[in-house]
Amino acid sequence: MNDLLAQMNTAVKNARGNTAALGNSTSSVSNSVHRTEPVASPKERSDSAIQLGLVNQLMLGVESRFGIKPGTLVERKLVRILKEMPINILRDWVNSMGTCSSEHPEWQSLVENLTVHETYFCRDPDLMEMVGKDILPNLIASREKHRQLQVWSGASSTGEEVYDLAYMCLRGLEKAGKARQQLDGQVVLEQGWSLFVMGSDVSNQALRTAREGVYGELGMGSFRNLPAHWRAMFDDVEMAPSNAMPGVRYHKVRSWVKSCVRFERFNLMNSRPPVMGMDLVFCRNVLIYFDDTVKKAVQTMLARSIAPGGVLVMGASVQMLVPEYFEQRLGNGGPWYIRNGVTV
Ligand SMILES: C[S@@+](CC[C@H](N)C(=O)[O-])C[C@H]1O[C@@H](n2cnc3c(N)ncnc32)[C@H](O)[C@@H]1O
Repeated sequence: MNDLLAQMNTAVKNARGNTAALGNSTSSVSNSVHRTEPVASPKERSDSAIQLGLVNQLMLGVESRFGIKPGTLVERKLVRILKEMPINILRDWVNSMGTCSSEHPEWQSLVENLTVHETYFCRDPDLMEMVGKDILPNLIASREKHRQLQVWSGASSTGEEVYDLAYMCLRGLEKAGKARQQLDGQVVLEQGWSLFVMGSDVSNQALRTAREGVYGELGMGSFRNLPAHWRAMFDDVEMAPSNAMPGVRYHKVRSWVKSCVRFERFNLMNSRPPVMGMDLVFCRNVLIYFDDTVKKAVQTMLARSIAPGGVLVMGASVQMLVPEYFEQRLGNGGPWYIRNGVTV
């Protein structure tokens, strides 16, 4: 919280400085010799302390409801949102927030502002290659009897990772002879096989974009890292979306990829997973925002969702805190974890 406190102090000081400068404008010459710093009144000092306490209280509410721990980025965002609020309104609002569940629209609106939705197609090429070469062939072979593959991305943001996974699974099934490619590029599953890929996120805004599956070709946008052969996943869009940026080309995920995919709102803080019996679960670039206790609880919930023999991928920087449920493997794209048979 120290960073937050420092920034709140600066914000409050700046606001005071501006007000003082305006009020003193006629006598600025004589004043500037003796007084360069305005002095806060006892009331201002106590208001600022109350304000900091309220922000602190709110941050604890964010952490207990969404797992997001106080950290520089989140704090900066929160300060930006709250610094203009008069103290009495801020106090009433923070107190009423304390009585609401995480599903309440006010919390939802706050979490939309605090979450980081940075993502793009083929975000980590080494990891994706490892999924294609080391993970999927074995998974597909082991699911021969049930003839289905079920995949979940637990923090899917605007959907790029989910469509990546759907496309990779379709290609993997094709390589394994469980699907075939038609002349128009469409990959069709062999009779009896099914593929289900679910994306979930706590942000409704991100989910809206994900469900649409339409992405703009911007410099540092969704396509910044797309390998040429993945273009087969997209159609050009003739009618740009209503919020389109001028001069930007848009592409939509082709219907044969989209039809395997579903998106749902899910808060990773829930102990019951939204889906069970998963063969492959991705939970990347989100656990970094949680502290170890929350991380462990989320990993336990993920273990609950994965079928024995299924795989968990969390990215290279995340430590496995429930090793009793998994066997670790290490590939060129980092560690991945095979679910053992131990009941959660
Ligand atoms: C940086 S994005 C990661 C997207 C994607 N997994 C990737 O690696 O490219 C992090 C996502 O986690 C989501 N998130 C944060 N806290 C969450 C929670 N408690 N439950 C579910 N999603 C959460 C955010 O809304 C955001 O979309």
